[in-house]
Amino acid sequence: MSENLKLKLSDLSVRYSTKGQSTLAVSKVNLTVKNGEFVSVVGPSGCGKSTLLKVVSGLLKPSEGQALLDGKEIKDVPESIGMVFQNDALLPWKSVFDNVRLPLAIANKSTQEQEERAKDLIQMVGLEGFEQFYPKQLSGGMRKRVALARAFAHDPSLYLMDEPFGPLDAQTRVTIGEEFIKMWERVGKSVLFITHDIEEAIALSDRVVVMSGRPGTIKAEFKVPLERPRPFYDIRFDSRFKEIQREIWESLADIHKESEVSR
Ligand SMILES: Nc1ncnc2c1ncn2[C@@H]1O[C@H](COP(=O)(O)OP(=O)(O)O)[C@@H](O)[C@H]1O
Ligand SMILES: [Mg+2]
Repeated sequence: MSENLKLKLSDLSVRYSTKGQSTLAVSKVNLTVKNGEFVSVVGPSGCGKSTLLKVVSGLLKPSEGQALLDGKEIKDVPESIGMVFQNDALLPWKSVFDNVRLPLAIANKSTQEQEERAKDLIQMVGLEGFEQFYPKQLSGGMRKRVALARAFAHDPSLYLMDEPFGPLDAQTRVTIGEEFIKMWERVGKSVLFITHDIEEAIALSDRVVVMSGRPGTIKAEFKVPLERPRPFYDIRFDSRFKEIQREIWESLADIHKESEVSR
């Protein structure tokens, strides 16, 4: 396999079996993420996007096919990943400071390193002064900033993000998306990003992958030929952006039509 690949999913299928019911969630998915590449996955709800991320984060075993991280089969939760999910998953009994340094504590970093890094990250996401606050004392946008800081803490080589900005209002979503892409541009590591927002996918990514309805499979891929750094919001008015947006929209509209017909 190529040295340059961070993640490789080959003919990956996942079947859920519960109470005698069996559901084929994804079927023969082939997907790669190169080192330093930002890949987004869009697709109808229920097509298996979260299922793919669960396999990559070691929480779920594929029924068939392979998931390779740095050329090795994913067995347990890999140390080198950073995750942000829709639900920000902060520990409610820990302060902002302690939530952010948690991955460093788990990695047995020295207290000094934990504290310095957490301080820098909290500043980076604009939460200085809130170090001792608890998650329930923060707004949704602030909690998301804490979750982002935590995901960056141990300098992962692959970020897994499942509709991370989903619960935010439109304005906050753009602000946080912009902050996130700036943080990412500084580290330049691989990202597998799930969203149902086509504009967000294009604005962030090097490549956008479209999944078909259940059982999910890769339907199309679109390269995003927009230079970086990009203005996260204003790039949406670029004619090249509009062009890809239309292509992705048509690809998704086809999927919708197909599923209407098969019903
Ligand atoms: N734990 C589970 N047990 C049984 N079926 C599941 C489970 N998790 C997800 N599914 C089913 O698998 C399909 C894909 O789910 P999911 O990966 O969550 O889709 P998406 O994230 O694209 O909305 C859905 O039809 C869902 O109902
Ligand atoms: Mg999902």
